Amino acid sequence: MAKNDSSMKFDTKAIHAGVQPDPSTGAIMTPIYQTSTYVQEAPGVNKGYGYARGKNPTREALQGSIAALENGKHCVCFSSGVAATDAVMKLLSPGDEVITGADLYGGTYRLFTEIYQKFGIIFHFIDLTNADMISQYINPNTKLIWAETPSNPTMNIVDIHACAKIAKTNDLILVADNTFASPFLQNPLNLGADIVMHSATKYLGGHSDVVMGALVTNNAQLHEKLYFILNTTGANPGPMDSFLVLRGIKTLHLRMERHCFNGRKVAEYLKQHPKIEKVYWPGFPEHPNHAIAKKQMSDFGGMISIVLKDKSIENTYKLASSFKVFSLAESLGGVESLINHPATMTHGSIPKELREKVGVVDNLLRLSVGIEHIDDIIADLEQALK
Ligand SMILES: Cc1ncc(COP(=O)(O)O)c(C=O)c1O
Repeated sequence: MAKNDSSMKFDTKAIHAGVQPDPSTGAIMTPIYQTSTYVQEAPGVNKGYGYARGKNPTREALQGSIAALENGKHCVCFSSGVAATDAVMKLLSPGDEVITGADLYGGTYRLFTEIYQKFGIIFHFIDLTNADMISQYINPNTKLIWAETPSNPTMNIVDIHACAKIAKTNDLILVADNTFASPFLQNPLNLGADIVMHSATKYLGGHSDVVMGALVTNNAQLHEKLYFILNTTGANPGPMDSFLVLRGIKTLHLRMERHCFNGRKVAEYLKQHPKIEKVYWPGFPEHPNHAIAKKQMSDFGGMISIVLKDKSIENTYKLASSFKVFSLAESLGGVESLINHPATMTHGSIPKELREKVGVVDNLLRLSVGIEHIDDIIADLEQALK
């Protein structure tokens, strides 16, 4: 079986895809090519590598791995998820319009409104869970649909296939932020998306030790443009970080299975808890987009948000600080359980009225359920919520 055989099962791809034994030593682990430049035999005569902003063998192995996991032909990695999003925006010109969800990761919203709006890009923040709404916002200037699904932090599900049909009909680029699902649970390219975006900081890396972004596509032209943007604007990830994500990916399937198992138990526990008003988790049959989630995801993941019955922000803060297994921190998708207060942390850059409109209220907490033993996780929730 060839190492990059696209017929390989996901678990095998996670371990082998993109990776070859090092040609100079046979090292089974891709070395960290910690170099800024490559010696040339004569001007322009080199071994395929000129300068490390453009190309690095450790990064190339990682790009091959992520592309394979998303069933894509091409991947470009960036120094962060936000840098990957930024590269997509650089495909656009002043006057172009973007349709996106009203509930987005706060950093994506900030990038769109504080940077790109200033350069003349127009954003429509709408309810993307209703694909019929999208057509109302399309005009000759519309160029791109940005769909984050599941969304951060209210776990809304966008029908990727329905969006892709609209994008194709209107010649728009559909980008899916697949950070929350990871390629283990969802492959947006299979559903018709043009670009998949990842904050590889999260499930791909999986160990809370690296910040990285990735874009995957099957479109050679888009790949060429995105690679040009990377090389020209310089948001390239370093080789050590590339190695860490490549190493993290080797256990992605095992980690995701446990995240999903623990996530389900935690969601069910919280749902019946007398101090909880609402639990956002797409695995519940009564979740408004459960049917779509079931169709496009293979399981429901370990991201859960809760609204407390007690509306006091002080008590919400107090609760957020009272966990022993869960750590109060931004980020998600690592092996350790994290708790986050979106209104002041990850979504603090969204104005209060706007974030409250999409459910990000002061008494909402977001859990990234880790892969510790479920009994310890539940015991921690029990003691904090007592
Ligand atoms: C859904 C989503 N997209 C994008 C990002 C940005 O990624 P990064 O923090 O790696 O820049 C995040 C970060 O939390 C996220 O949750």
